[in-house]
Amino acid sequence: MKWVQPCSADRQIYRPQDVFDAGERHHHISNTAYPIAHSRTWGAYRVADRARHRERVQQAFAGEEPICLYAHIPFCEKRCSFCEYTVVNREESKQTLPYMQRLERELNAYADLLGARRIAGFDIGGGTPSFVPQEQIESLVGLARQRFDFAPDMRISIETTPRIAAQEADKIRAYRQMGIERISMGIQVIQPDLLRILNRDSNGVEHHFRAVENIRQAGFDNFNVDLMYGFANQTLESWQATVEHALALDPEAITLYRMRYKLTRISDQADQVTMDQVRVLSRWAKQRLKAAGYLANPGKNTYCRVPKDTGTSDYIARRVIQGMPYLGLGLGAQTFTDTTIAYNDGAVAKNLMPYFRSVDAGQLPLQDFYDLPLAQMMAKMICVSFYFGEIDRAAFLRKFGLPLETAYAAEIEFALQRGLMEWKPETLSMTTLGEDHFSGLCALFHAPSVKGYLLEYAGDMSGDRRLALKVS
Ligand SMILES: C[S@@+](CC[C@H](N)C(=O)[O-])C[C@H]1O[C@@H](n2cnc3c(N)ncnc32)[C@H](O)[C@@H]1O
Ligand code: SF4
Repeated sequence: MKWVQPCSADRQIYRPQDVFDAGERHHHISNTAYPIAHSRTWGAYRVADRARHRERVQQAFAGEEPICLYAHIPFCEKRCSFCEYTVVNREESKQTLPYMQRLERELNAYADLLGARRIAGFDIGGGTPSFVPQEQIESLVGLARQRFDFAPDMRISIETTPRIAAQEADKIRAYRQMGIERISMGIQVIQPDLLRILNRDSNGVEHHFRAVENIRQAGFDNFNVDLMYGFANQTLESWQATVEHALALDPEAITLYRMRYKLTRISDQADQVTMDQVRVLSRWAKQRLKAAGYLANPGKNTYCRVPKDTGTSDYIARRVIQGMPYLGLGLGAQTFTDTTIAYNDGAVAKNLMPYFRSVDAGQLPLQDFYDLPLAQMMAKMICVSFYFGEIDRAAFLRKFGLPLETAYAAEIEFALQRGLMEWKPETLSMTTLGEDHFSGLCALFHAPSVKGYLLEYAGDMSGDRRLALKVS
């Protein structure tokens, strides 16, 4: 057995109906962002002794090939109030070069430790990666190519904002020239009033057309636009205008993010948004996108108009479908193997210094390293699979050595009987009814300690912040 033994909270058994109801009740936190409250649900599995991390990382990655690679760039022009990602403040944003140098040092440390692993997907994400000078991205991509073995069919993906894509055409061209093949741009919503409330640049929709022109002229034929729904005061009409605008930009893919409030600056607004309101927005958008030729199976939030393409980056597609291990570099980045999950320095405090100190001391900059039992690793894989609304049966069997239907007999029976999921030849997939009950369905596959947490949850998201802070 390669997994650690479960603690008593992870040996409990709960009735599927109770868990499903708890997931539905707490729809703001029961989603793909697993495990909800790290210190409560994973505290028992934390490897606190940093001196053991290097050896544990090496063991956890033994025999794992190919893997995916992620590099986190934690800088933005300004901080949107809805954002859940690891982004540093304005003062620290002046430190792009010292940061990128540490990022490269971290990459070298892993390459020394793991060897030139084959890489099946590489995302440069953030924050806003295009905030940093293009030479620094070029240097990072060059180093990654040199130290790892990039699969020939692998695409590198990067994120940008409309302002940068519109006003810094040289950068966008440089990305394509350095071999980056996919680009994703966040639009979120288009209403100036809402953008202002969200502290997001409201520089006008005409900017977006300029941005797309630059992206196309640079030679990108794999372009995604992110939209967000589930904000307080977001009307159906305003959401419809946002979706129509995204269609007018004619990207290959459109990703719909439902707002996740936990640990954001507007977490107090979650109570103003009901599941029924969210469903109306998401149903409308899905039908509209489908009518426009953008397809996705139920539960998947990336809609793509290119046949046989997932619409996502390779890094995401391989993580989601195959549960492929990934190495996360940079502030707060997450690393995942078949038995462990780790978070880099900065995941909670969101400042650079602890990360710099660890890298400078020649340590792996791991703030929290968890050696997890089977139930937790299966739950994590399934939550990630739900990005695409389905669980790949062969990938599950290969990773965990047991069939999906054996691991979750009672939960699957519950979901099948209620028409929430269905067996397909290669997957266990959400139905359209299941998609409407995404939160309840996710909860069914959580590990017992996380189910227990959801069942007891009293609805205080600021409490989560305190719990999370304790992790550091
Ligand atoms: C890492 S962000 C980077 C994109 C880029 N910085 C931008 O804002 O255009 C990727 C996407 O996550 C989504 N996102 C950010 N905060 C979120 C939250 N709290 N809940 C759900 N999605 C969120 C947004 O759609 C965003 O475009
Ligand atoms: S949504 Fe994008 S631009 Fe806004 S703070 Fe988050 S990463 Fe930065």
